[in-house]
Amino acid sequence: MRIPLMAGNWKMNKTVDEAVAMVNELKGLVADADDVDVAICAPAVNLYAMNEVVEGSNVDLGAENMYWRDSGAYTGELSPAMVKSVGCKYVIVGHSERREIFGENDELLNLKLKAAIDNDLTPILCIGETLEERESGVLFEKIKFQLAAGLSGVQAEAVKDMVLAYEPIWAIGTGKTATPEQAEEIIKFIRQTIASMYDAETAQSIRIQYGGSVKPHNVKEIMAQPNIDGALVGGASLEAESFSKIVNFNK
Ligand code: 13P
Repeated sequence: MRIPLMAGNWKMNKTVDEAVAMVNELKGLVADADDVDVAICAPAVNLYAMNEVVEGSNVDLGAENMYWRDSGAYTGELSPAMVKSVGCKYVIVGHSERREIFGENDELLNLKLKAAIDNDLTPILCIGETLEERESGVLFEKIKFQLAAGLSGVQAEAVKDMVLAYEPIWAIGTGKTATPEQAEEIIKFIRQTIASMYDAETAQSIRIQYGGSVKPHNVKEIMAQPNIDGALVGGASLEAESFSKIVNFNK
């Protein structure tokens, strides 16, 4: 049985005070969430203070990015141990904004993914296509390529415990959601691809989220799809009330 993971991705939003106030409110609103894991991936400078607030609650924390080296002369970067030391359980790897705006390629993301696993962090690896790729029919090849490159050298045991997020780039922050059927089609394909790269057990264990304009009003139909194991939520994760409605989709 895969437990859904509802994870917020705050991107470049909220100061420490704002972050602390939000999780303080959120932890009360999601305290009775049933059979759902809850996480907020926040800007790194907020995590230490947030961790004090969420301690003992069912809200876990994640980083939005990190570097793969243990330490050294990498100005501006965070190591896996640093991310762990502020209480993170998760780390997002390869969000399309990291790929597109900051030029992160699949080779680098594979190193980050392995560093997360080696440091006992659960990676949330993001994959997805642009509108152009969808319309020109290379969608399935793109997904296959991102999986092969991103998971290169990663063993089945680690793949079972990690998280994938299918985020069609054209649906991020645009208000255009993939229909639940479109999301299910690709997520099912991702699961089949994992089965062919590894085995059926690995494919049945890995959690695969959908991300892209998930809101309180559409979460229920997205979660009704058999292969979708939660959501990676941008805009609607910024307010405790809207994110808690997403977490409590099954109430
Ligand atoms: P929105 O929910 O704002 O579309 O963002 C999705 C996303 O990029 C989550 O990582």
